[in-house]
Amino acid sequence: MTLERFIKPCEFFSSETLVVADLAPRIIEHSFELPLLEELVKDTEGRPLFTQISHGLQAANQMTLWELYLRSGLPLPKGAILDAGCGDGLFFALAPHMVFNRPEIGRRRVIGIDLDPNKIKTARIVAGLIAKGFAESTRTTERPEGLSLAYLVQDPQDLARMDTEHIIINWEKKGLPEVAMVWSNSMFHWIREPENKYAALDNFNSVLQPGGVLCISMSAGGTARDFLDAYNHVIILQLRGYDSQHNPRGYHRVGFETDPIGSRPLDEIVNMIEESGFDVAAGIELPESITYDDPRQYSRAVEVYGSKAFLRPVPHYSKAGMRKLWGDIEQEFLNILRKKGWKDGQPWTYTQFNNYIVAVKKAEVVSPEKRVAPVPVTSFLNERFLNASYKAMLSQSRRNMTISLSGNQEEVEGVETTVNIHDIFKAILTYATSNWVREDVMPVCTIQYRVAGEQSLVLGIDVKPTEKKPVQSLFRPGVLKRLQQSNVGMSHTDLENGIRRYEFNVPLF
Ligand SMILES: C[S@@+](CC[C@H](N)C(=O)[O-])C[C@H]1O[C@@H](n2cnc3c(N)ncnc32)[C@H](O)[C@@H]1O
Repeated sequence: MTLERFIKPCEFFSSETLVVADLAPRIIEHSFELPLLEELVKDTEGRPLFTQISHGLQAANQMTLWELYLRSGLPLPKGAILDAGCGDGLFFALAPHMVFNRPEIGRRRVIGIDLDPNKIKTARIVAGLIAKGFAESTRTTERPEGLSLAYLVQDPQDLARMDTEHIIINWEKKGLPEVAMVWSNSMFHWIREPENKYAALDNFNSVLQPGGVLCISMSAGGTARDFLDAYNHVIILQLRGYDSQHNPRGYHRVGFETDPIGSRPLDEIVNMIEESGFDVAAGIELPESITYDDPRQYSRAVEVYGSKAFLRPVPHYSKAGMRKLWGDIEQEFLNILRKKGWKDGQPWTYTQFNNYIVAVKKAEVVSPEKRVAPVPVTSFLNERFLNASYKAMLSQSRRNMTISLSGNQEEVEGVETTVNIHDIFKAILTYATSNWVREDVMPVCTIQYRVAGEQSLVLGIDVKPTEKKPVQSLFRPGVLKRLQQSNVGMSHTDLENGIRRYEFNVPLF
């Protein structure tokens, strides 16, 4: 990754204090104008659906991301815009103003997807109101129908797990139309685990047209340190570990993370995006400063979107119990602030960092046979390699695994393959370590290999997962496609003691 290609922040937020009513960080000078949020869309009684207080920050992020896209100069191929993690449809309301500002972008369909059924409901209402209202407000004698975008809203879906070929849109099983742009504002950090981030990026890549554009804004270093300290203090010190006999109101250590939100610094996320079949055209990490009239407003803001993630270690609590726990965290947060000099009634300023990235889907990948030079299989099948690469990789995500290798080294001397065996190991070991039977002190994985008829290398990988998944589902779609193109055979068999063997037939060169 070269840093030069990242445009520098043009204008950082001004030093004057921003108050809650004026959240928008003035980071980049925008080349387009939007009406006031309060004027964008109103319900049937004339009440605004979005306000500066409720949606100011999200709207500012959307504008910055759109500006970055415009500045990247990337053309948009034919097709729809997919709003990934559309929430309650803020982008639906902003998009006509941003899109019709640039005649070359033209009329588009906008498809919204979100995990949360309630958000989807509101997004549908917003879509209806906006499509009608914008057309009415842009009628002219030459264009009596006015300008409009067409909106489609996807039933609730997890972007990391969606079946991109059989997608349900407006209650109909359809499959997506051609997608020119995947737009995702303030969503990606909610997909916490790196493997799920990769899965979502693979899905974005697979739905995009060649030359399609990916625009992502996400937290680079999210939750306030003082709030996280309060969270950790309450969960770990106040609750102690869950035990059905002695401490039924404790917390489950599994599922506890010191920061449950998957913020990532710019360089890491750029690498992930590039690894997933995109070229990053522009990316910036910007500080955004927000002053809350009262720090409790911050705690409520985190609760609105984050309580599910934060309260993952207490799935056995009732709604009231969870509410009380959130109250305890908030109290501890205020205590920490008081110790640092904050006084009741005073505002509180917090600076967070946000990434903005614009990328383009890479041209069609050349088939692996043409692309990859044959590699000796001994470079993969050797204890030193396994220990150096996979143990390090797995322990980075705070997992550990004992890997044992068995086979006849002499049999594989001089044997080569064009298949990237690393793809296989990486997927199986990641799965095995994230799904291992937790009573085991340490998950164990046994790899056996043998050469079959000089044509193929048979790899048997034994793991003991809690959830037994079929072999195909362990791979990201792009990786699976690559392995299938290289004619790798794959199957699984169940052995004794909960062990499952995943077997791969790797063609030799
Ligand atoms: C902070 S809101 C942003 C909403 C909208 N993009 C905006 O700018 O106003 C984050 C949204 O991401 C959605 N979300 C989080 N994880 C998701 C996932 N795995 N799949 C789909 N949506 C997800 C949440 O339901 C929420 O509506």
